[in-house]
Amino acid sequence: MKLTLRVWRQPSPQVKGKMANYHLTDVSEDMSFLEMLDVLNEQLILDGEDPIAFDHDCREGICGSCGLMINGIAHGPEQTTTCQLHMRSFSDGDTIDIEPWRSGGFPVVKDLVVDRSAFDRIISAGGFISAPTGTAPDAHATPVPKVDADAAFDAATCIGCGACVAACPNGSAMLFTAAKVTHLGLLPQGQPERDARVVRMVAQQDAEDFGGCTNIGECSAVCPKGISMETISRLNHDLLGALRANAVPTS
Ligand code: SF4
Ligand code: FES
Repeated sequence: MKLTLRVWRQPSPQVKGKMANYHLTDVSEDMSFLEMLDVLNEQLILDGEDPIAFDHDCREGICGSCGLMINGIAHGPEQTTTCQLHMRSFSDGDTIDIEPWRSGGFPVVKDLVVDRSAFDRIISAGGFISAPTGTAPDAHATPVPKVDADAAFDAATCIGCGACVAACPNGSAMLFTAAKVTHLGLLPQGQPERDARVVRMVAQQDAEDFGGCTNIGECSAVCPKGISMETISRLNHDLLGALRANAVPTS
């Protein structure tokens, strides 16, 4: 395939960025999107130019670091991670726009790399349990109803990629926070901190530069792990309960 790529180039957070055009002439439909960017970067290095900075690690849909806006859609035309997107999803002659996540909560570091440490701070605010773990207990030592175990597992598949934030017109991080609150709040081990967790994680989310949730649903539509809007309902249920009980200081 021959492709025209329009890529966001921004040398540093202090410098204004702009789109730059590149042309590739021999792209295989079997390449992943990141492999296609690797080819472009090899070409740029051979030409003595600065390669495009983009984030990636596992390249198998687990780590959540490879987020890109592709033609204005978080992770591109398939509901998967950018590393699991293949060039067969595009056509010969296409022009593809490639941009970083656009959100006040995810400032650009360089080119396509954004700082997602706001998510780490939300996790630090409450995304943990204090139950002593010790050695691994027998699987049946703490009974969990299957329906709860399944819902907790589904929520736990969130990889923290940030596509939900990038897709949301409000730049809200609610789906991410809700996935973490749901994952721990449905399990017996997560009960001691349940009220404090939801209050503190939402407070931290609000302290970051994310917008509020107005139930638009773009987040879930692009989430590569299919985290559902039901998690947001669970978060709101827990948050209202904790605030009504006035159980938790918010700082
Ligand atoms: S909820 Fe989905 S889109 Fe948001 S960070 Fe988790 S995996 Fe990514
Ligand atoms: S590189 Fe890890 S999820 Fe894409």
